[in-house]
Amino acid sequence: MKDLFNDYVQSLETYIMFQIKQETQRLTPELTQKERKPISLSMGAPVERPPELVYEKIKEAMQEDGMHTYTTPKGEAYLIESIAKRMKARFNVEMDPKTEIFSLIGSKEGIANIIRALINPTTNDKDKDIILIPDPGYASYKEMVKVSGGLSYGIPLTPENNYMPDLEDVVKNLEKDGYSMKKVKALIINYPNNPLGAICTKEYLQKAVDFCKKYNILLISDAAYVDLTFEGAPKAHSVFEAEGAKDVAVEFFSFSKPYSMTGWRIGWVCGNKEAVGILGKLKSTIDTGIYKPIQKAAAEILNSKEGDEYIVEANKRFERKQKIIIDGFKELGWPMEKLNPPKATFYLWLPIPPKYKTSKEFTDAVLQKSGVVLVPGNAFGEKGEGWVRMSIVASEEQMHEVIRRLKEDGFYFE
Ligand SMILES: Cc1ncc(COP(=O)(O)O)c(C=O)c1O
Repeated sequence: MKDLFNDYVQSLETYIMFQIKQETQRLTPELTQKERKPISLSMGAPVERPPELVYEKIKEAMQEDGMHTYTTPKGEAYLIESIAKRMKARFNVEMDPKTEIFSLIGSKEGIANIIRALINPTTNDKDKDIILIPDPGYASYKEMVKVSGGLSYGIPLTPENNYMPDLEDVVKNLEKDGYSMKKVKALIINYPNNPLGAICTKEYLQKAVDFCKKYNILLISDAAYVDLTFEGAPKAHSVFEAEGAKDVAVEFFSFSKPYSMTGWRIGWVCGNKEAVGILGKLKSTIDTGIYKPIQKAAAEILNSKEGDEYIVEANKRFERKQKIIIDGFKELGWPMEKLNPPKATFYLWLPIPPKYKTSKEFTDAVLQKSGVVLVPGNAFGEKGEGWVRMSIVASEEQMHEVIRRLKEDGFYFE
């Protein structure tokens, strides 16, 4: 049976977060017995309840006539117009609801499908179309490119380049490694970044736009965390604040992170109308959009006072939890003063203690002994080996409990 499936799918592993989930489930009875019931700091899924307004609106909408039927893949007018209004209010950017916005079943779905729409699949490595992705970066990018029959090429984000790599250097390195820029179809950028929490300047977005214009490639901006910045930190930008961005860029947004609506599966893409149109056509053949009451609730929260206040409070909570972890890891011997903790997202990116050889060795040990679920850094790219990602999404009590367990179980930075 396995042979019937294509080579790309056969080379896939189950997505890392679900592998970790399965392993955690397997270990749960044993860990619970020794008072180490798993605390998940792996997936980027905040535990807090979404805003009350979305519950009210979905309940109301479910009773309305006609809400149970198929929607359009593009999304209902009330959602699309609300998105256009949000783009204007938040970034001062105009988006044409008719041609430049499309709804998504979460931004992950949209990014996977735009990659699929770009790549001419081949199993011959030399002929593969290339997508430039951040390293470290969201673990799904690499797998999405692989399953579409393409090749991902990692762009190193380092403290030395301030997490904003020189893009002409990328071209030089790519060619040094024997690839051609002619095969490159797109550049993916993601600020604020998962897993680093790094942010970028508006000038850097302009450079990315100019670079993609020069090489005639698509700029894919993943803005899933654009609203997740701490108080006092500069607000993150949309790529469309850069001049000429609509000529080359699409941007992906999510309701998952700002409103803790991860399971509701809703997001949007906007930007270059040709790219949005092609993605829309592809989607119209493979999915039929989002349950209308979810669209209604999402449309309501997007431009509401309650939504904006929720985001402010959520960011304050992430900052408080980050502080608990930073203080705790300092006590455990981590060189926190050198690490410059981020002021965006709910992630922390930490080195593994020197006595461990690999990230996986460390995360396995912490899971098996302390029931604390982390993600090995190499899941986010080659540059991630030797690091670990922690999602600061559990409750404050659980953050204290994590530190207590790590101390008790001897996980010091040594
Ligand atoms: C960088 C980034 N982009 C996109 C997503 C997907 O989010 P969703 O599909 O829930 O909108 C995630 C989720 O973790 C992410 O970290």
